[in-house]
Amino acid sequence: MFHIRPETAADTDAIRALTAAAFAGAPHSSGTEAAIIDALRAAGALTLSLVAAEAGGIVGHAAFSPVTCSSGASGWFGLGPVSARPDRQRAGVGQALIRTGLATLRDQGAAGCVVLGDPRYYGRFGFACDPALRYGDVPQEYFQRIVFRGPPPAGEITYHPSFDSV
Ligand SMILES: CC(C)(COP(=O)(O)OP(=O)(O)OC[C@H]1O[C@@H](n2cnc3c(N)ncnc32)[C@H](O)[C@@H]1OP(=O)(O)O)[C@@H](O)C(=O)NCCC(=O)NCCS
Repeated sequence: MFHIRPETAADTDAIRALTAAAFAGAPHSSGTEAAIIDALRAAGALTLSLVAAEAGGIVGHAAFSPVTCSSGASGWFGLGPVSARPDRQRAGVGQALIRTGLATLRDQGAAGCVVLGDPRYYGRFGFACDPALRYGDVPQEYFQRIVFRGPPPAGEITYHPSFDSV
């Protein structure tokens, strides 16, 4: 059985390999997810990097990084990339990582978190689409947010430059 913990320096290579393997078969993959995590870490923008670890190694990973909103709303973060090892998908790894990450952000005083992904998956964590909050030209239902405190922000969200730098 796995447990969720923050990454350590010793996890870096395993996170890169796991992320590449998880996204290799994903139809929406950019192929850059592993490099994005490295770029966020190098930029000091990997706010929260959680691994699902067990005796044999890591079986999942989730990254959270700061985002900005055109409204000036502060304290917002983006979830992703998130991945479960291909042979361990659909067995609770992703859910455990995401629930722990959201709870940690909330405890640390974050205002909320956004995610780009399938609403059938992310809805269970409390993510919901808000037409007032936009991200580029992606279909609206795929961009979702969860509010921890304060009023729901309106405007355009921008991810950390690391997402575009690789
Ligand atoms: C998406 C991912 C992180 C989910 O983690 P996971 O550990 O496999 O999934 P969990 O065990 O937490 O959740 C399983 C549940 O989610 C559902 N689910 C998983 N992926 C889903 C998806 N892409 N769309 C809809 N539902 C999904 C399963 O049907 C299952 O539902 P159930 O609990 O009602 O039976 C993982 O499948 C993965 O690494 N995928 C490849 C990379 C990727 O696409 N990452 C997300 C980018 S936005």
